[in-house]
Amino acid sequence: MAGVFISFEGGEGSGKSTQIRLLANWLAGEWPGKVTTTREPGGTHGAEKIRALLVKGDDNAWDSTTEALLMTSARRENITRIIEPALAEGEAVLTDRFYDSTTVYQGIVGGVDPALITMLNGHFLNGLAPDITILLDIDAEVGLGRSQRADNDETRFERRGLAFHQAVRQGFLDLAGAAPDRFIVIDASRNEMAIHEDIISHLKPRLDAFR
Ligand code: TMP
Repeated sequence: MAGVFISFEGGEGSGKSTQIRLLANWLAGEWPGKVTTTREPGGTHGAEKIRALLVKGDDNAWDSTTEALLMTSARRENITRIIEPALAEGEAVLTDRFYDSTTVYQGIVGGVDPALITMLNGHFLNGLAPDITILLDIDAEVGLGRSQRADNDETRFERRGLAFHQAVRQGFLDLAGAAPDRFIVIDASRNEMAIHEDIISHLKPRLDAFR
């Protein structure tokens, strides 16, 4: 059994962490192996340190290219220490963000040449790609309103303003449109159980291919 690798993507306040928790609980009764969850940037001790550099503090601290390099460094740690070993054991791995976030935040919206991001992915991620990507799509203003109510200081990207986040939303929708076999696009404006059930109804038939 080769495991299954599922990434969650979406803008600020799209509810990824809640949906990952709900899906992990559901998969625990459904998937024959263990279920592992992780997040990006982060997941490992070292990658969480990189996360703290990226998501807190001054917007000017890094340019988009440096961000892409740091995100890729954190991703490599997450892959080699958590994701690949789990997949090798046949586990279901859920990650809160993966390389589509770099393509959108640093590439499409941040202005880094997408070819450079593709090159970084090709060299440093051991060829790993998500089997399935769940995009939680929500109006940027509604999402920002939700995430600003959450109590945290990880606001470096959040503070970038509505136009930035509208472009992020559109960037993800464009990626999903270009890769319909990999992406499942979910309307994340509804209540959390409605979203969860929608995710399961789309995912269940696709999971059979990985068992
Ligand atoms: P989170 O709020 O979903 O945990 O993600 C942290 C922030 O990092 C979020 O604002 C998006 C940003 N981010 C990027 O800009 N590029 C990336 O590659 C990743 C993984 C996250």
